[in-house]
Amino acid sequence: MRPYQGGVVVLDFGSQYTQLIARRVREQHVHSEILSHDTTLNEIQSHNPKAIILSGGPSSVYHGSAPICDPRIFDLDIPILGICYGLQLMADHFGGEVKTREGGEYGLSQVQVQDHDLFFRDVPSNLNVWMSHRDQVTKLPRGWIVLAKSSNDVVAAMAEPKSRKYATQFHPEVSHTEAGTAMLRNFLFNIAGCEPSWTASHFITDQIHNLRTRLGKEQVLCGVSGGVDSTVVAALLRRAVGDQVIAVFIDHGLLRSAEAHQVVTDLEEALKFPVKMVDHRELFLKRLKGVLDPEEKRKRIGEQFIRSFELVAETLGGIRYLAQGTLYPDVIESGTVHQGGPAAVIKSHHNVGGLPTDMTFELVEPLKELFKDEVRQVGRELGLPEALLRRHPFPGPGLAVRILGEVTEERLGLLRQADELFLDTLHQENLYHDIWQAFAVLVPLKTVGVMGDRRTYGYLLALRAVTSHDGMTADWYPMPPEILSRISNRIVNNVEGINRVVYDITSKPPGTIEWE
Ligand code: XMP
Repeated sequence: MRPYQGGVVVLDFGSQYTQLIARRVREQHVHSEILSHDTTLNEIQSHNPKAIILSGGPSSVYHGSAPICDPRIFDLDIPILGICYGLQLMADHFGGEVKTREGGEYGLSQVQVQDHDLFFRDVPSNLNVWMSHRDQVTKLPRGWIVLAKSSNDVVAAMAEPKSRKYATQFHPEVSHTEAGTAMLRNFLFNIAGCEPSWTASHFITDQIHNLRTRLGKEQVLCGVSGGVDSTVVAALLRRAVGDQVIAVFIDHGLLRSAEAHQVVTDLEEALKFPVKMVDHRELFLKRLKGVLDPEEKRKRIGEQFIRSFELVAETLGGIRYLAQGTLYPDVIESGTVHQGGPAAVIKSHHNVGGLPTDMTFELVEPLKELFKDEVRQVGRELGLPEALLRRHPFPGPGLAVRILGEVTEERLGLLRQADELFLDTLHQENLYHDIWQAFAVLVPLKTVGVMGDRRTYGYLLALRAVTSHDGMTADWYPMPPEILSRISNRIVNNVEGINRVVYDITSKPPGTIEWE
């Protein structure tokens, strides 16, 4: 696929905020993508970027092992914004001096803007900004000027305006930085001359072109699950290559109550083309027998999905391409995105880290660079129904990652009943759309209770409801106590085998949204 042209390239030096930088740029309708810090000059130039942003990172520029970028990027006639480590890297490269600071500076800090030209245009002179650094610039490179200083005399922002190089010690991408968005806008539009043209409809036109070029006249299997991501992929493919798409829904037996047939009917309605349903419930359950470890579950499910698609492809006379609704967070959390160093694996999303190594399909993943809210926007533009677009996310491995420990028919049955009552109450109370994702988790540990003067000894059920923008971070939803009480009563009174309900009050981080 040809690289996106004319956007912003974010070079990643291992900052915890790199993805946030990319998002903030896209929120301004400017395309941005993250490349590893050691990407070659040629590769960077093939993207024809309008601007480059150097991320922060945990290293010190004066250590021999510190990550660097191809120094020739500094000679290009392309504006560069360095953030935190990015500032220190430019200071060092252009002959300034960077030293360790006693105690570092973490959290909110006051800075005074000394120069309001371009980068700080329309930004107040006194600002609270988010700092997170141990090193600081102690001598400016020749020809550079200070744009802002912090109250303890640290160079907070500097520039070499003639060559359009700007740098901040603080993090304009973090929401705690006052006027951070204004600074990024100044950089993108006033300094780099970017166009706010990266919209859902541009994305669709681009992807249709890419899909047509790549697929030619070949058929493509498209795995659909009833969720937003795979439906959007199917709709995009349909526009791009029409009847060459074969939509396949694999029932893995890990779905919620009455979901399988509903999904196929809804999808056929939304996509206006047939969806082939395959019943592989037994195959999946067999693969999960006796498996307790969450990563092992995810890997087995990921592998079985591919084996199931291979079986379908065989019956159709062999198909080379498999399309799936992989999103950017799936790639990030599975630890396969470009990073300064290898990114930590948080969990292997079934469609990325869970894929078998001997897979012969070539994957088609047009949403791989998008966050969930962007996918919903693309779906809207493609005319998909709002009810489908606003459906809560549901993970590919389904209820298997919501039953701690072994997945059995009995546990699936209990969880289905409890989850249905939980979601039904949220719909009745008109709360479903205030929440990003809500679900029940079965904790197969028994606790003692009393019902109708009788002792009970049943499973524990946890309820989880979170708010989020993109699933990368999340807050637990402050569910009104009277609603919690209603849900708990409905579940304990109606689901025999569950006698205790708890509510999860952990945000992400430190928790993740799913329990496994
Ligand atoms: P976590 O649990 O990582 O979840 O905070 C973030 C979002 O991703 C969904 N999720 C998955 N989606 N395959 C998917 O298609 C997976 O393997 C997977 N694991 C988590 C999760 O439901 C949440 O919306």
